Amino acid sequence: MKLQDKVVVVTGSGNGIGEAFARRFTAEGAKVVVTDIEAEACARVAREIGGVGLACDITREDGVQAVADLLVRGIDAERFLILSPGSALLEGLAAKAADYDGWIASHAPVVSG
Ligand SMILES: NC(=O)c1ccc[n+]([C@@H]2O[C@H](COP(=O)([O-])OP(=O)(O)OC[C@H]3O[C@@H](n4cnc5c(N)ncnc54)[C@H](O)[C@@H]3O)[C@@H](O)[C@H]2O)c1
Repeated sequence: MKLQDKVVVVTGSGNGIGEAFARRFTAEGAKVVVTDIEAEACARVAREIGGVGLACDITREDGVQAVADLLVRGIDAERFLILSPGSALLEGLAAKAADYDGWIASHAPVVSG
């Protein structure tokens, strides 16, 4: 139990790599905060691992603020760690590159998340 009494926030952990991180850190004893833009996925993973769910868009200031508020005021923890899996380029890099807004949207979670 390497992470007993630690709090770990994993952004984008409703699916994929972030979900795997959330499950692994839980197995190591951490209390995990699952954050994701997909509210249902966020709630599902949080429920399954016994964590805390916070649905938010991590590319928006209010989303980042919600995570910060939860950490500073809502959780009494000795330490915490924030990981940032971001989001996948679901339609492929070339397709996104052809559309400036799509390109920015693809990278925003990685930059701000
Ligand atoms: N899957 C791979 O093999 C692989 C390899 C290298 C790098 N990556 C990178 O790792 C990251 C995650 O990949 P994945 O395969 O786990 O993707 P995924 O799509 O399975 O999971 C990404 C999660 O991020 C969430 N998300 C997207 N935008 C968000 C936002 N604005 N705010 C909050 N949550 C948001 C999605 O809802 C989803 O649950 C991506 O940046 C991807 O490019 C993936």
